[in-house]
Amino acid sequence: MSIERSPEDVRREIERRRTFAIISHPDAGKTTLTEKLLLYGGAVREAGAVRAQKAARHATSDWLELEKQRGISVSSSVLHFEFGGHRVNILDTPGHRDFSEDTYRTLMAADSAVMLIDAARGVEAQTRKLAEVCRLRRIPIFTFVNKMDRHGRDPFEIMAEIEEVLGMDSIPMNWPVGAGSDFRGIYDRLGRKLILFSGGKHGTHRVEEEVIEGEVTEPALAAAMGTFAKDVQDGLELLEGAGASLDRERVARGDQTPMFFGSALTNFGVRPFLDCYLEMAPGPTPRQSAGVAIDPAKHPFSGFVFKIQANMDPDHRDRVAFLRICSGRFLRGTQTTHVRTGKTIRLSNSTLLMGKDRAEVEEAFAGDVVGLFDPGIFRIGDTLSDEPGIAYAGIPIFAPEAFMRVEVAGVEKRKALEKGIEQLVQEGVVQLFREPTGGSASWILGAMGPLQFDVMQHRLKSEYGVELKLSKLPYTIARWPLAGFDPDDFRYSERIRVVRDRDERWALLAPSSWDFDRLRDRNEKIVLSETPDPTLFERAS
Ligand code: G4P
Repeated sequence: MSIERSPEDVRREIERRRTFAIISHPDAGKTTLTEKLLLYGGAVREAGAVRAQKAARHATSDWLELEKQRGISVSSSVLHFEFGGHRVNILDTPGHRDFSEDTYRTLMAADSAVMLIDAARGVEAQTRKLAEVCRLRRIPIFTFVNKMDRHGRDPFEIMAEIEEVLGMDSIPMNWPVGAGSDFRGIYDRLGRKLILFSGGKHGTHRVEEEVIEGEVTEPALAAAMGTFAKDVQDGLELLEGAGASLDRERVARGDQTPMFFGSALTNFGVRPFLDCYLEMAPGPTPRQSAGVAIDPAKHPFSGFVFKIQANMDPDHRDRVAFLRICSGRFLRGTQTTHVRTGKTIRLSNSTLLMGKDRAEVEEAFAGDVVGLFDPGIFRIGDTLSDEPGIAYAGIPIFAPEAFMRVEVAGVEKRKALEKGIEQLVQEGVVQLFREPTGGSASWILGAMGPLQFDVMQHRLKSEYGVELKLSKLPYTIARWPLAGFDPDDFRYSERIRVVRDRDERWALLAPSSWDFDRLRDRNEKIVLSETPDPTLFERAS
């Protein structure tokens, strides 16, 4: 089925897309907020569906046995809905720290990020790392301070922490009225209106809103805020006095973050956040291909693979490549070029992923993510393009923090083991390093945490029928030397191990960052990087 579209029509469709990921520390409320965004977007009638779907997934999938056993989320998908004329795509990411590399890669496909902070806990470790990746990419970050229905920190304290820890100014778009069990509403600073919330049936339904327009000092607003009026007026006066104002260019570069207060649990503040966020967040922005910015609306279909996921559906045991469309329009059944191999491929098996559910997608636009059936041809970072000469920059590698040696001595089915490892490394399940001496006996696997190795072992067994034996290595940190490096200097080093990464670049593994500090003291010329190709971030954006 082919749907006629004028270029103007395609441009309109692209511009109304908003594609983002939520970054947070586990337990800050990402699942809850996602669910509430779906509730407001009309994608679910009653909140609870996302959790219910999680439970259903657990009941049917053996791939997700691991999730069930551990009570964690390994897989991720894309959620989408229509709201206020926008097509909203939420790139869902696994919550567990051990799968954060997956989240980093997903951030490469997002146009903006929502940073969710627990009002009582402030900026936590994982949020900090994810925000750093966003800042390297220079995508805008919008902050939602969650759990305002519980006793939390003073908003000024949270603002100061964001500045200190992340180096960003935060600009409150609204200000909370009351806190904890007395959290009543927000004052909208841009719209100059008070919004008071009530009802909402324990958060399963949308809340009722009472809106009173006017300055916060006006008697009608003061009366409506009651005992909280003075606090809110003082807070806003202090903010105005501090003089920091919204600067959309700084927001676009990720130097300033617009900030919102609310409670995902009770739904207070969710709708105003969504409205303001969608108005301010960028649509699909141009991406770099060999130094040229590819305007999403001016070029035909192109995109890149940012994630490969296997066995989402145990009945099919298939593999899905997640493609972020960067320009033009995708039409099912058409042919395009797989740039790395130069082969022509037909985009016949394309799915739109909504949680666990899949639907065939006939057309999609720049900004959207489609799942492509992968018969084993895709690698992370691959470009697909209708137009010759386009190749997106690829996905950076992020330094792993746990390392295992592959035990292969005397293993039966050695070939199957090697093939399986190579394939899963290409999918980004774990990273592969080799000692320069060569052979699979020298293979070292790197991951963010032990669960990634569990997934690797699980998949090798179920898909390749081989047992992977691993032995733990004492390293917790990897760095890539970009300059001032000579492998011979490390011949007698006991703590630092010299290896090559999957692209044959030198990498160094060490038990602690102290080792690298000492190395830098001894060798002032050495330049160590957390990622082998730091320029990839600029080239990718
Ligand atoms: P995550 O995906 O970021 O890991 O967090 P998730 O949404 O699962 O939320 C973690 C816990 O925080 C849940 O409680 C959830 O109900 C709670 N929570 C989320 N948003 C808010 C909020 O705005 N206010 C308050 N007070 N709590 C919030 P739980 O006890 O672990 O689970 P449950 O029994 O509520 O499902």
